[in-house]
Amino acid sequence: QKAYKIATIPGDGVGYEVIEQGVAVLEEAVKNSNVSLEFTFFPWGSDYYIDNGMMMPKDALEILKGFDAIYLGAIGDPRVPDHVSLGMLLEIRKGFDQYINLRPIELLEGIDSPIKLAPGAVIDMVVVRENTEGEYSSVGGRFKKGTPDEVALQTGVFSRKGTERVIRYAFDLARKRAAAGNGEKAPMVTNCTKSNALNYSMVLWDEVYDCVAAEYKEVARDKALVDALCMWMVRKPQYFDVIVASNLFGDIITDLGAAIQGGMGVAAGGNINPEKVYPSMFEPIHGSAPKYKGKYVSNPVATILAGAMMLDFLGAVDEGKAVLDAVKSVLKEKKVRTYDLGGNSSTKDVGRAIIEAIGNNQIDA
Ligand code: IPM
Ligand code: MN
Repeated sequence: QKAYKIATIPGDGVGYEVIEQGVAVLEEAVKNSNVSLEFTFFPWGSDYYIDNGMMMPKDALEILKGFDAIYLGAIGDPRVPDHVSLGMLLEIRKGFDQYINLRPIELLEGIDSPIKLAPGAVIDMVVVRENTEGEYSSVGGRFKKGTPDEVALQTGVFSRKGTERVIRYAFDLARKRAAAGNGEKAPMVTNCTKSNALNYSMVLWDEVYDCVAAEYKEVARDKALVDALCMWMVRKPQYFDVIVASNLFGDIITDLGAAIQGGMGVAAGGNINPEKVYPSMFEPIHGSAPKYKGKYVSNPVATILAGAMMLDFLGAVDEGKAVLDAVKSVLKEKKVRTYDLGGNSSTKDVGRAIIEAIGNNQIDA
C-alpha cells in the first residue's frame, strides 16, 4: 500500500468548485488500487487575506513541506491586488524550488481546435517552462518614482545552473517520450529564444542549450525566436515535440498553447521539483474567474488533468492513466461538457461523468 499526503488549496473564485471535482475523481481512481490519498484542505487565498492580512500563514511552506504534493485550484480576487494574491503562487514555486513548469499541450479527441489543422495533424507537445528565475526574479526597482524622469528596471536573472537544469529536463523528457513510443514523432527539443534582441540572457541560454544538446545525440535540436515560435504554434502545431522556454516566454506561449488545445478549461500544469526534495504543485493553468464563482459552470477538466499529472508524478502511474483515459472517453463522447466546449453541463456533471467513466473503463479491462 502506497499512501500519499496531498495538501489541497482550493484558493479563490471557481477554485473550490473545480478542486472539489478533482479530489472526487482522484479518490475514485485509487479506490480499488494499492494507492491511497489523504487530502488535507487549506483555506488559504484571498478570503484568508481579508481576515488575516496575508494570503497564507507565515509558516505555510513549513506546513506544506510535510506533504507529498500540493493540489491547487486558482488564485486571484478583485478585492486583493494581483501582485499580492499571485505572490502566493510564486512564493510556493520558488520556495519549493519547483523549477520545472510542465505544461502539456495536447488536442484531445472530441475537442475542436480554433485553428484549422492540416488533415491528420496531431497536436501533442509539452512546454517545459523555467519556473524559478528569469524574468520573474523580482530584481529591479523604480527610480525617481512619480517624476517625469522616472525609470523602472526589471532585471531578468539567468544563472547558468538554473538554465542548464531546465534544458536538461527538457532533453530527458524528449528521450522519455520517444521511449514511451510517442506517436511517430522523432524526439526534438525546440529552444524558445530571443537572442537576436536579448543579448545577455538569451545568449547565455542558447549557449547552455548547445552544451546540453551535445549530450543527447538522438534528440533533434531546434531553435525558434519566441515571436516566430508563436506563429508556428498556430500555423503548424503538429511540428512540435518538447519546447523549452524561460519563465516569461513559457508563460506566454502556454496561454497560446491552451487556446490551440481547446481553451483554458482543459489546460493543466505541474510545478515540479524533480528531485522531490520539496513537494511539487499541480494546478489548472486558468485563473480564478471570480464572476463565475458559485455558479458551477466552470470546466473541471483542467484541474482533473492536473490531478492525473500529480498521480503520475507521485508514482501512481496506472491510477493517473485511469484518470486520463476517463477524461478522454468523456470528451470523445461529447455528451457531457461545460459551456466553454459548447455544452451546458455543470462542473459537477462533468466530474460525475468522469468518475463513471473510471468505473466503466475498469469493468472493460
Ligand atoms: C500562470 C500564471 C501566473 C504566471 C501568474 C498568475 C503569476 O499566469 O501560472 O501561468 O505568470 O506564472
Ligand atoms: Mn500564465
